[in-house]
Amino acid sequence: GRIVVLAGGLSHERDVSLRSGRRVAEALRDAGAEVDERDVDATLLPSLREDPPACVVPLLHGETGEDGALREVLELLGVPYVGAGPAASRAAFDKPVAKAVVARAGLNTPRSVALPHETFRELGAAAVMDAIIASLGLPLIVKPAKSGSALGCTVVRAPGDLPGAMVGAFAYGETTLVEQLVEGEEVAVPVVDTGDGPRALPVVSIRPDGGVYDYTARYTAGSTEFEVPAKLSDELAAECARVAVTAHEALGLRDLSRSDLMIDRDGTVWFLEVNVAPGLTETSTVPLSVQAAGLDLGELMDTLVRQAVV
Ligand code: DAL
Ligand code: MG
Repeated sequence: GRIVVLAGGLSHERDVSLRSGRRVAEALRDAGAEVDERDVDATLLPSLREDPPACVVPLLHGETGEDGALREVLELLGVPYVGAGPAASRAAFDKPVAKAVVARAGLNTPRSVALPHETFRELGAAAVMDAIIASLGLPLIVKPAKSGSALGCTVVRAPGDLPGAMVGAFAYGETTLVEQLVEGEEVAVPVVDTGDGPRALPVVSIRPDGGVYDYTARYTAGSTEFEVPAKLSDELAAECARVAVTAHEALGLRDLSRSDLMIDRDGTVWFLEVNVAPGLTETSTVPLSVQAAGLDLGELMDTLVRQAVV
C-alpha cells in the first residue's frame, strides 16, 4: 500500500527534516514502494483520516515529531507508523529524562544539572553560574533540554561564558541542560530492529573541520570528516554497540534510533543522547552506517514499514 513520508513541520529543524524526507522518499521509491511526501499542516489530519495510508514514516525532527505528539495522533487515528511510540519518544527527546533512564540501566552519562528558566530568573545568572561551576566544574556544554541538530548548544570553558550560553539555550525551551563536557572522540551508533531484536550498525566517528559538530558542520557537505566503521579496537566498538542497544532498549524504542556517544581519553564510553528520528540527509551519519553495513537505505526502510503494518 501507499506510504506517507512525513517531513517538514514547524520545528527549528524543519529544513533538515525536508532533506531527510526527500532522501528517504527517493530511497523507498527506488526499492519499489509507492510513496507520498507530506508536510505537516492543517490538512494533514483530515487527509490521514479520510484516505489512510498503509503506513506513515515520520521523519519530523525536533518538537512534534520526536517528542511523541504526532505519534500520539497516529495512534488515535489507528495509522501504522515506523519508529518509537509516543511515550518512549517523549522520554528519549527530553535529554535529562533520557540520561536518567540510561543511567539507571547502568550506562555512563556525564554529570549534569537540568535548569528550569524559572530557577534561572529567581536566583539570577550570577548565583546560578557560581552554583553550577561549584558543582560540575569546567568545561561544560550547555544544551536545550529538548532540541536537536546542536541548535542552542554552547561549549563553556570560562565561567563568564556560562550565563550567555544558558540564555542561548533558553531560546529553545523552558529547561536547559548543563552537562560536564567529555572530550575525546565523538561517535554515532545507529540501532535497527528488523524483527530479531535491536542490533547496532557500524560506529561512525565524527571529525568536524572546525572541531565542533554544530549545525553548519552537520549540514554543509564536506565540512565534517566521517570514518565508518570507526577505527576502534574490537572491544571499544563492541562497547559502543552495547551502549547504543542498551539505551534503545532501556527507553523502549522501536525500529530505528541513533545514539550519540563520546569516547573519552581513557576509553570510557559516555551516553549523550538518543534520537528517535535521526537525520537521514546526505550529510547525516545513519545513511553512512547503513551503507557500511552492506544494507540499502530504501530496502531497510521498506522492511521497517512492512514490520509496522503487520
Ligand atoms: N536532530 C538531527 C536531525 C539528528 O539527530 O540527526
Ligand atoms: Mg539529537
